[in-house]
Amino acid sequence: MQDWRWPTYRPRNITLERVVHEGTDPNRGAVRIQATDGKQYLDAVGGIGCLPLGHSPKRWVDAMTEQMNTVMIAAGPFWTEVNLALAKRIVDLAPVKDGRIFFGNTGTEVTEASIKVALKATGRDVVIGFEKAFHGRSLGSLSMTANPKYRSPFLSTPGDDIQRFAHMNVVRATYGDLGSVEKLFAEYGERVAMVSLEPVQGEGGINPATREFLVGLHGMCRKHGALLALDEIQAGSGRTGDFSAWTTLVGDDPELYPDIIWWAKALGGGFPVAAVVARGDIAESMQPGTHGSTFGGNPLACRASMVTLDIMEDDDLFTRAGKQLATLQGIASAKPISAVREVRGLGAMLGIDFGDADLVSKLVGATAEQGLLVTASGGTAIRWLFPYWADETILGEAWDKLGKAVAAVT
Ligand SMILES: Cc1ncc(COP(=O)(O)O)c(C=O)c1O
Repeated sequence: MQDWRWPTYRPRNITLERVVHEGTDPNRGAVRIQATDGKQYLDAVGGIGCLPLGHSPKRWVDAMTEQMNTVMIAAGPFWTEVNLALAKRIVDLAPVKDGRIFFGNTGTEVTEASIKVALKATGRDVVIGFEKAFHGRSLGSLSMTANPKYRSPFLSTPGDDIQRFAHMNVVRATYGDLGSVEKLFAEYGERVAMVSLEPVQGEGGINPATREFLVGLHGMCRKHGALLALDEIQAGSGRTGDFSAWTTLVGDDPELYPDIIWWAKALGGGFPVAAVVARGDIAESMQPGTHGSTFGGNPLACRASMVTLDIMEDDDLFTRAGKQLATLQGIASAKPISAVREVRGLGAMLGIDFGDADLVSKLVGATAEQGLLVTASGGTAIRWLFPYWADETILGEAWDKLGKAVAAVT
């Protein structure tokens, strides 16, 4: 098929046409999708973690239709009830003290917002990131923006002719290794604005952080006056068993709360919604004009998120998501696939590691042949991001298809 898009994605040669609903539960979306050739797939991709309810549950579609017929778009300075209600709801759910929210549309957009607010609030210029981290792909849109009103608060030297993207330098530590972070603090100390990480690395191989590592980072950040910032774009919004993956891993202790957390993907139930919550005093460092987003927090997006959270609450979906890893591990030990090295993750963030990148790249196509859509993660793992309600039946069916795909390519 002729493809006029940039070659930024490796095409799968599958044209998805329509979702396949099973049953009539208005809260439950579809987990199967049909291609133009009539072949049906069990969908473990879900737009890469964007479908916590499945595709197009009736209650979600009805809410969106109603919202489109009331008010769909409102620019940032205007209030709408749904925007204010969602802001309060997410701030209440977020393990961040005295939180204040900024709405965007995509993951990278709220990652950028978190960088800006951290640099602005601290007046520092170094960010500690981690090996295997993934935070998005945008690059310096602010550098290209001409108006100094927007740009100058983030330049290293106000009035500087060399318009670098903010004045941000990233140094990288080893995920899980507190000593490697301490070393960077010893070198950059007072310059470190924030330590930023995914509580479960999504693109890097489905690697959950330990409680000890996260609590250790919290203590180090407090000691050095740096902010602790969490990218929960993939792991958050209920996927690990709580709204925030931080809560799943660390517990709900306000004395240990991080300073900034951001979410996207599952937050809108399939519609682009992203949000970043920063501690009140950090958020207060921003003023009118220091940040913005034309579509961020639009009423339609906010309604998508509200009805998604309503359904999650009514159907206890955080709890159900939280059980998926144990269910899959049970299936894996009852019916082992010999090539599998490890089944790991947290809640409904599932990684099946084969320790073999060649095999995994073959399996992405071979599973599709068996009627299962998956993505790879970290080179050697297959990633499943099913709807939160996916149970033993769905996971068992997927495991059987994976087993057949492995047999076909080995
Ligand atoms: C942890 C994490 N951060 C950031 C992003 C980027 O999000 P987006 O593609 O919506 O910009 C992703 C996307 O996969 C992600 O998993």
